[in-house]
Amino acid sequence: MYDVEKIRSDFPILSRQVNGKPLTYLDNGASAQKPSVVIDAITRAYSEEYANVHRGLHFLSNLATEKYESVRGVIARFLNAGDENAIVLNSGTTEGINLVAYSWAMPRFEPGDEIVLSVMEHHANIVPWHFLRERQGAVLKWVETAPDGSLDPEAVIDAIGPKTKLVAVTQCSNVLGTVVDVKAITEGAHAKGVPVLVDGSQGAVHMPVDVQDIGCDFYAITGHKLYGPSGSGAIYIRPERMAEMRPFIGGGDMIKEVSRDGVIYNDPPMKFEAGTPGIVQTIGLGVALDYMMDLGMENIAAHEKDLCAYASARLSGLNWLSVQGQAKDRAAIFSFTMNNAAHPHDISTILDKKGVAVRAGQHCTGPLMDHLGVAATCRASFGLYNTKEEVDTLVDALELAHELFS
Ligand code: ALA
Repeated sequence: MYDVEKIRSDFPILSRQVNGKPLTYLDNGASAQKPSVVIDAITRAYSEEYANVHRGLHFLSNLATEKYESVRGVIARFLNAGDENAIVLNSGTTEGINLVAYSWAMPRFEPGDEIVLSVMEHHANIVPWHFLRERQGAVLKWVETAPDGSLDPEAVIDAIGPKTKLVAVTQCSNVLGTVVDVKAITEGAHAKGVPVLVDGSQGAVHMPVDVQDIGCDFYAITGHKLYGPSGSGAIYIRPERMAEMRPFIGGGDMIKEVSRDGVIYNDPPMKFEAGTPGIVQTIGLGVALDYMMDLGMENIAAHEKDLCAYASARLSGLNWLSVQGQAKDRAAIFSFTMNNAAHPHDISTILDKKGVAVRAGQHCTGPLMDHLGVAATCRASFGLYNTKEEVDTLVDALELAHELFS
């Protein structure tokens, strides 16, 4: 059974107060809190097991290398990647998508070649493609979301034309909570011979992920949203695509030999991991993913589905609140504005006074804000440790804000 109170006790920060009130942490979409096992693993790694990886022949270097490298296997298991060599370790989704842009896309894009994107992509899955537009004449083709915030896989597949070289979509919107059928998109895109990149920053947090079942070519995750340290992450890359990639960042670790005349690169995936990595961050990520897998991704998803239904019902009962996006398949991420036009920053300041942490602003989704016709929203994003009582606390605080701004 999913014992949320016991789970909460694993996260020390959740028992603190903010502004004299118990913390109600609903900013998980931005970054999630860390369980003690992760915090302890970080402390242990620095206090007992630290040295650089892949370099020394001494005890600590070997130990740190073993701990660090074991995380590749943990991530492969978390994503059901099949082979741990399909996992490139990095600092998070932004780096992962930039790797695909620089290493895979740049060498093969001709002027006029297209990338199909949805309007609800995060800037991390937009800006690298603008680099290709600016530098190589690539064309960004945008697919709109439906009025309920859902994304029709057929609309994405229909947008693929003879010049399309890549489809890049999120599995779960960080603003609307919409869950996208990335498997259907991948099947349709592959039938047209086009690879698919999935931004799994939010998706992997809220549902079990099986990259082999999805069939996608690239799947990027970020550690700090997965209850792990910031500066950790990974990208799954299908072996065929990895074989097509040229290295992006050059330096130590990604080479076998360097001479005055040339370089022999390391084998993939290390060919794409230059420099001293986030050693302890990655070790912490491994522990965080083990923690999630121990709870069970199906159990986490079921708990959050229940929370999502409860929050949906409570928020839709506030007739002065506009919740953006009501897709049937969604995660517990709610963006809203108040009909009395109170600014989202002011709303979040009032919520903060009640100990409720939410994010306000554009959420790194400029095109989506334009599409929705709003300047900004407030966003409450739930995680594996949130409760229905916290939904009630959010609603009470929103009622107070509404009263104050009326
Ligand atoms: N991508 C993070 C968010 O959605 C920062 O808040």
